[in-house]
Amino acid sequence: MEQKYTLQRAINQDDAKLMQVADSIRNAYGTFFVGCGTAGKVCMAADYLFSKIARKHVNSVVASEFANYQDYLTPKTLMVAVSQSGETADVLEAIEVAKRKGVKVVSLLNVFGSTMMRMSDDLFMINAGAERAVVSTKATTAQLAVVMLLAYATAGKLQEGKLLLINAASAVNDMLNPRYDGHIKKLALLLHEKNDAFIIGRGLNYPIALEAAIKLQETCYINAQGFAGGELKHGPLALIEEGTPCIALVPNDETKAAILGNASE
Ligand code: F6R
Repeated sequence: MEQKYTLQRAINQDDAKLMQVADSIRNAYGTFFVGCGTAGKVCMAADYLFSKIARKHVNSVVASEFANYQDYLTPKTLMVAVSQSGETADVLEAIEVAKRKGVKVVSLLNVFGSTMMRMSDDLFMINAGAERAVVSTKATTAQLAVVMLLAYATAGKLQEGKLLLINAASAVNDMLNPRYDGHIKKLALLLHEKNDAFIIGRGLNYPIALEAAIKLQETCYINAQGFAGGELKHGPLALIEEGTPCIALVPNDETKAAILGNASE
């Protein structure tokens, strides 16, 4: 319920620093976004956002797999480490691998004074406020907001990105309006009853589908799985039968027709 303010706070970054890190991303010999779990899905989203907004390729790697990429690292490589707590062991180990190779590390953090803060060359505080439960919720949207600002800064359109996110903050506020509660409760009961859920998305909504599945798994113990819409027919469809809940993320963009096609499938 705090998401509106969270987004507004996350957007409130030092423009000069955003431009400076954007410059490092533009000039880096490979940029790696690294995180675990939900933060890892934000890194995956970064891959799509940078390609769409800045026409720039960045890599996204799950922190526990990062060491497998060490042969590609040079002092010209940049790592953007994303972590709510700044204490996740897999991310700390990935940073150590990077540091041994002379890689510059920029972190996106929520907890001030964390171990990661001390290990990083530079950082952005996402200012989401304390996450009191295990689940990363408002920190996730705040991480996405800062990644978007970096992508817009890399494209030389920082102010455009800020404006978009300010509008997103009020759109999010509208979604949290109590008038939707009844509808949401009805859907939640359905998920609870079936204990199964498939979530599909395309493009940017692919990592978001994976993230939605994590949330249903860890908060509700529901057997939720996220897929790229186009992958349904390559296996998972076999597990879907009449009555299986399937959530399709349908944005109003170029993926709309295809994801609706997957949904009807
Ligand atoms: C998801 C969740 C976990 C964390 C992951 C990384 O809601 O809580 O998947 O996202 O353990 O944690 P941080 O971001 O603290 O590094």
